[in-house]
Amino acid sequence: MRHTSAIYPGSFDPPTLGHINLVNRALGIFKRVVIAVATNTTKASLFTPEERVELLQSIFKDNPNVEVTHFHGLLVDYARKRGVEVLLRGLRTNNDYEYELQMAFSNKSIAPEMETIFLMTENQYSHISSTLIKEIAYFGGPIKKMVHPLVEKAVRKKIKKPKP
Ligand code: PNS
Repeated sequence: MRHTSAIYPGSFDPPTLGHINLVNRALGIFKRVVIAVATNTTKASLFTPEERVELLQSIFKDNPNVEVTHFHGLLVDYARKRGVEVLLRGLRTNNDYEYELQMAFSNKSIAPEMETIFLMTENQYSHISSTLIKEIAYFGGPIKKMVHPLVEKAVRKKIKKPKP
């Protein structure tokens, strides 16, 4: 095996069951998965990067092959610094495709040694998105089936009351 590790970058604001499923499946391919929480420059976030890292670390606390980190700056610079050349992303629906293709091509053009590997999200998770989870929670709806119990608790704590 040439590559033992993959970096799984994302906003993870908050992490979903889809993200967790992707990491667990990636561990069937790579020995080690580094979850890299990005500082998002375009989206307003509910959780700080540190809080997102903490949540993911708690979720994967029993798995020594998962590392959770935070990076600021270009993903490919971070991957180079870590000596990892595989970037892992999940694909849910057609909607993801254009955006993911654009990112994969851009990353490849600035760092040709990087390969982006896509895993198709399993069917039961393909409708789940961090953005929708925040919206549902904001209006007091149920998010239990979409997130880990620790994340549900943390989201509820952040979004205390349903807004009118
Ligand atoms: O979960 P998201 O928000 O879809 O993740 C997007 C993310 C964090 C992977 C992307 O925005 C990213 O890589 N950000 C780091 C800055 C960077 O390298 N931008 C150029 C990407 S081509």
